[in-house]
Amino acid sequence: MIIRAHSSPNIALIKYWGNRNNEWRLPAADSLSMVLDFPTVRATIEPAEKFSVQSYDHNGIEKPQSETSIKRLQKHWALTKEFLHTIERDEGLPENISIVIHSGVPPAIGIASSAAVFSCLAEAYGALVQSNPLSQKEISILGRLGAGSGARNAWGGYVALENHGEGMGSAYGRQIARETDWLLHDIILVPDQKEKKIGSTEGHAMASTSRLFTERIRQIPRRMQECINALQTKDFEKLRNISEEDALDMHRVMETQNPPLRYLSDATHRIIRDIENLRSSDKLNVLYTMDAGPTVHLICTEDSLTTVEAFAEAQKDCIIFKAKTGGASHLKNI
Ligand code: PMV
Repeated sequence: MIIRAHSSPNIALIKYWGNRNNEWRLPAADSLSMVLDFPTVRATIEPAEKFSVQSYDHNGIEKPQSETSIKRLQKHWALTKEFLHTIERDEGLPENISIVIHSGVPPAIGIASSAAVFSCLAEAYGALVQSNPLSQKEISILGRLGAGSGARNAWGGYVALENHGEGMGSAYGRQIARETDWLLHDIILVPDQKEKKIGSTEGHAMASTSRLFTERIRQIPRRMQECINALQTKDFEKLRNISEEDALDMHRVMETQNPPLRYLSDATHRIIRDIENLRSSDKLNVLYTMDAGPTVHLICTEDSLTTVEAFAEAQKDCIIFKAKTGGASHLKNI
């Protein structure tokens, strides 16, 4: 049995930072993101004698996997089996699998490559379950066990990751609006392709050492509500205010935790300043947000797209990805 799945990154509007349980990647607070249609990840899995991983980049060139990355994938597979056992859906699951990943997403620079990879694997693992297919909620939980943000690709459009009680399955996604409800663009500016030294897995585990963390957690329910309202009423100004407030707040927490994580670079700050100037003079519907890297996501409405693209293309030494609101992770026939 060979199974193939596709997925893509998502960009958080209300960020997930910090866990209440690191082992199971149960988030300390809720979060909300927009699923992107590009770049894409494809994973093929097959039952095998022993666990193995092969990974290829967007040019089809094989990328050797670090030991850390193989261990993370192996752990995700073990947690997947454990979760499926707890919900009595593990009948007929193979002991081991071989995984082949084709990823168009550069890793570790703030384009949610792990969300794309783990949501893709979640979709493929779900198809190993015999009898009834897993629900989207269960696929979302499987994604979360590999990367918290990976829970937010089991639906398309705008998806919240929400906490519900205790236990391994106690945080999962919920669709807030479909991709067809509000089409937004994400012009992604990558000023630096160097992989970050400390990734989000280690970063989440140390988030609570920041003196600003408790206040951040206190603010999240209000921000979630405002973000949901903004999306449901297509109020771009409200969306911009709340998502920029949250992104900057997350980076303040990162920068004050121990050890401090400074993901934003001089280029990031310059792009933010320039886009703030441009939008105040040109009345543009554009917002900026950054995940764990110097990469700036410029999210804009259709009517502001041409100007935002021209702004992006005028940036020196930046790689640009052009994405828009996308659909859920899904299986592909082979
Ligand atoms: O899902 P992880 O462990 O890759 O963490 C994602 C963290 C951020 O990208 C910074 C925020 C988010 O909500 O996606």
